[in-house]
Amino acid sequence: MPAAPSALGAPRAGMARSLRSWLGSCLLVSALGMVPPPENVRMNSVNFKNILEWESPAFPEGNLTFTAQYFSYRKFQDVCTGTALTQCDFSRLSKYGNHTLRVRAERADEHSQWVTLIFCPVDDTAIGPPRVHVGVVANSLQVRFSAPGIEMEPGTWTMRTFYDSWVYHVQYWKNGSDDTHTVACQRDFEVLRSLEPLTTYCVRVQGFLRDQNKSGEWSEPVCQQTSGAEAAPSWIVVAAVLGAAVCATCLVLLGCSALLWCVYRKTRRVFSRGNALPQHLKEFLSQPHRHRLLFASFPCPDDSEVFDKLSVVAELPRGGGGSGQDAVGDTGSLGPPAGWDPPTT
Ligand SMILES: *[C@@H]1O[C@H](CO)[C@@H](O)[C@H](O)[C@H]1NC(C)=O
Ligand SMILES: *[C@@H]1O[C@H](CO)[C@@H](O)[C@H](O)[C@H]1NC(C)=O
Ligand SMILES: *[C@@H]1O[C@H](CO)[C@@H](O)[C@H](O)[C@H]1NC(C)=O
Ligand SMILES: *[C@@H]1O[C@H](CO)[C@@H](O)[C@H](O)[C@H]1NC(C)=O
Repeated sequence: MPAAPSALGAPRAGMARSLRSWLGSCLLVSALGMVPPPENVRMNSVNFKNILEWESPAFPEGNLTFTAQYFSYRKFQDVCTGTALTQCDFSRLSKYGNHTLRVRAERADEHSQWVTLIFCPVDDTAIGPPRVHVGVVANSLQVRFSAPGIEMEPGTWTMRTFYDSWVYHVQYWKNGSDDTHTVACQRDFEVLRSLEPLTTYCVRVQGFLRDQNKSGEWSEPVCQQTSGAEAAPSWIVVAAVLGAAVCATCLVLLGCSALLWCVYRKTRRVFSRGNALPQHLKEFLSQPHRHRLLFASFPCPDDSEVFDKLSVVAELPRGGGGSGQDAVGDTGSLGPPAGWDPPTT
């Protein structure tokens, strides 16, 4: 018997990809006693694993087998011939472009019409769930994920390899709550920060193609409990130590300032009361030329020795009123008394 009219199986633009001539074939079967075609033909494709599936039609006159083909180089090539299964693996199809696939039922030397389907792997394949690993660091969850791999491709090739607009959607929620948050992520990991401590959160991830607005399948939710805040990350410890050091330094500086202030106050009090310069010396020093004369008259060039002589002078009023050394203030001559040795400190 010649093949069924090819027009029945030809793809038609604007129609669903799966063209089923169920009604027509029923009429032909009843009219000509032909084998009924496979039913519910569909492509089940996930991560470019392309499985053409169908159901065996009800046929009382014995078991049916099936043949599935795809169009290539101006003719159809067999992929599965005479199989009793109700599926056929088309994973070796090129990932790009539209492919025409077809399947028919057979029994002995009779067969049904072809059921045809148009399939474009890169557009039509479903994106499987990413692999997800969730780790806990204090009140953050570190989520790592990887795009699904592809059978019959090198291990480093994943679904992401074939799509430029690939991103991940990371969704998380408190276990038992309907309030979900979703973040888009281009890298292979995401850190969910500032979660409530000691709370169980659940996370799931999907691949998403932005330019097609196409979502992949969600991964199974992974639930993890955040730990308490006491398990602080190391940077907080470092910050705390630094803060303590700064505080300690400030306290020490404050203490030093207070000490210096006390010393200053005490020194001022000492000079302003008991050990005030004698009146006549003050008058003497207040006259500029005598002032100069005072220092010019010292024989020693050293500053420290000048100071030492000043303190000697300050003690003059106490050292006995009528002694000969009193003449120093009156005459304006501050030269050292006879026999006096300059201190050599
Ligand atoms: C049809 O297949 C069933 C198993 O699927 C088998 O038991 C039966 O013998 C087969 N019938 C014929 C006529 O081959
Ligand atoms: C595949 O066919 C569809 C219509 O069925 C069309 O819109 C699309 O552009 C085709 N793709 C290719 C790569 O030819
Ligand atoms: C999430 O909450 C449900 C009850 O709402 C509970 O049965 C389940 O064990 C929780 N899962 C985790 C991982 O805590
Ligand atoms: C993307 O698809 C979703 C449904 O999957 C739809 O709600 C949304 O409006 C679409 N966005 C755009 C920009 O097409």
